[in-house]
Amino acid sequence: CIKNSGRTKRERIFIMDGYSLGYANIALVKYWGKKSKDPVLPYNPNISLRLDNLLSKTKIEKSLSNEDEFYINDEKQGPEEVNKMIKFISKFTPVDREKICIKSYNTVPTAAGLSSSSSGTMALVLACNEYFKLNKSTQEMVEIAKEGSGSSCRSFYKLAAWLEDGSVEELSCELDFSMMVLVVNEDRKKISSRVAMEQCVQTSTTFASWVEKAKKDFVLMKEALKEADFEKIGEITESNALAMHETTTTSSPSFTFLTEESHRAMDIVKQLRSQGYRCYFTMDAGPNVKVLYLKEDQDKLYEEISKLWNKKIILCME
Ligand code: ADP
Ligand code: DP6
Repeated sequence: CIKNSGRTKRERIFIMDGYSLGYANIALVKYWGKKSKDPVLPYNPNISLRLDNLLSKTKIEKSLSNEDEFYINDEKQGPEEVNKMIKFISKFTPVDREKICIKSYNTVPTAAGLSSSSSGTMALVLACNEYFKLNKSTQEMVEIAKEGSGSSCRSFYKLAAWLEDGSVEELSCELDFSMMVLVVNEDRKKISSRVAMEQCVQTSTTFASWVEKAKKDFVLMKEALKEADFEKIGEITESNALAMHETTTTSSPSFTFLTEESHRAMDIVKQLRSQGYRCYFTMDAGPNVKVLYLKEDQDKLYEEISKLWNKKIILCME
């Protein structure tokens, strides 16, 4: 009972057993700050890699109560989350619709800096397309998704660039990348990406230099992808993540998503690299550390990392 929408080339399965699937993505050059909120536009162009094993699956049904409902992993979400979803889907679904129940399951930990907002939003847009028979093209759904959560527009493509004018491009690279997560903490973060990034835009003393750097990193990353230069790709990925995180410590009030354990995970990656392993780290709005490597290195890298990291490790690609 698997149906591939077949709407885009090199696409993943988007619908399975009545559920619409949305995938997480991790940025190699981060989106961290909105130049415009309506429409949502990023301060700098950014690039991401989709993680095919970290996903959300969502189904919409007619609500059995008199209100709209939203469940994540069978847990009824409170009014704030329901309103957020309804406000978003009201932008592209019929005004005279019946009350609905959105049922979603995340294999990605929710709100832990592992991009559940992108997989969840992508899955929700696809589920609305099915339930309301909207018949939108992938390109149209990409446009819709970013109004729900900016980074989700990149999840529709394996390697994606979201540009300052709002357009989303599919990129290609000869390399077969993969990622694993060194899990520091899967709990819901205290401050959402949205709120945190806005605070950094408003108050960080390094925000302007972050944007300048990220714009340069974008150009360098595109070149490195074209040249299939993994070392260059990894170095840009790490330094871009560190510059993004610097905007949190330079904001007011100062804060950080990273813990001592995150730093220990980064040190492991650096140590392995000094021993000749090709691996680089990146972190998002949460403490968990993602390791970028080439698929062909997965087995030996996993073996080495497991000796040094005694907590959970998630392999993000098949
Ligand atoms: P993350 O680092 O996981 O992306 P964010 O703080 O950016 O965390 O986003 C978390 C928010 O994403 C949740 O509060 C919720 O609004 C949304 N979200 C998470 N999972 C889903 C889902 N399955 N369907 C719809 N929205 C989701
Ligand atoms: C740190 O896309 O979650 O993961 O647009 O406000 O929903 P909203 O933010 P969101 O931010 C993601 C930020 C990031 C970096 C990235 O994915 O590029």
